Amino acid sequence: MHLPPLLLPLFGALCSSATSVRSPRPLVLWHGLGDSYASDGMVQFGELIKEIHAGIFIHSIYIVDNNDDDRKACFYGNVNTQLAGVAKQLSDIPELSTGFDAIGFSQGGQFLRAYVERYNDPPIHNLITFGSQHMGVSDMPACSAWDLLCRAARGVALGAAYSAWVQDNIVMAQYFRDPSNIQTYLNANHFLPDVNNEIPGQRNSTYADNFASLNALVLLLFDQDKTVVPKESAWFGTESIPDDGAQRVLTDKTIIPMRSQPLYTEDWIGLRQLDERGAVILGTCDGEHMQMNRACWEPVVKQWVGGMD
Ligand SMILES: *[C@@H]1O[C@H](CO)[C@@H](O)[C@H](O)[C@H]1NC(C)=O
Repeated sequence: MHLPPLLLPLFGALCSSATSVRSPRPLVLWHGLGDSYASDGMVQFGELIKEIHAGIFIHSIYIVDNNDDDRKACFYGNVNTQLAGVAKQLSDIPELSTGFDAIGFSQGGQFLRAYVERYNDPPIHNLITFGSQHMGVSDMPACSAWDLLCRAARGVALGAAYSAWVQDNIVMAQYFRDPSNIQTYLNANHFLPDVNNEIPGQRNSTYADNFASLNALVLLLFDQDKTVVPKESAWFGTESIPDDGAQRVLTDKTIIPMRSQPLYTEDWIGLRQLDERGAVILGTCDGEHMQMNRACWEPVVKQWVGGMD
């Protein structure tokens, strides 16, 4: 049987249009403390990524769909409530329905990780975090002198970090992990000890299953970071805590690296599983906190963003 000649080119055209429909995996961004979802920096970063991955769909997460209020929301609010809203926001975006890669800047990184553990619907494929506080901070992040919003939040947080009101209203306090007061942190903080599955008897295996389902976890640390204390939190490091759990300040600020953390060795969140599969990539950026040099982010974006499913 002969095909009518016209059908052949038509068939060919259909085939090639079917392949050109393939587009890069979508990308979700979560900005850092003091930034907002549609700031000049965020918009510009998105445009640079589009130059590398033509046609990529990018969504920038917001807490409030208004730039000024969104900036406030990274200082003030309840992180658990904010996360639930973000999970709803992401699930409502048709372009993301089959999954996406994600980049979290600073605190946006641990919030995206919490999204993976608690929701992950639609799922994250590669999770990339820049200068994030995965194991919290032992001091409140420094604010620039002119940043009154930040200074006000920091002042309140320093005053009574583990009071119920502060824990419910000041974002940075919800990842403050005071090495001299771990027991109070475990009792009073309802965000970080939960997503890190730190509380014995309350570990949620869904968190570990979801987190271990990532294709890759790429953790970038800024080697001159003075804003995040300790900067190794970006790689799941912490300062050491008193062996006896006593409430005292250690002068010894030795860093416990990721692979020596109980969270890792006992695999509370699936991190060890990921690492043993070769899926945890530890990278360094030259510079102070969130100094996004092209030499640092470009290779990451080329390798871990914009893949085809
Ligand atoms: C564990 O986490 C999942 C996902 O967030 C949640 O649906 C479930 O209720 C949690 N289980 C417990 C016992 O809290």
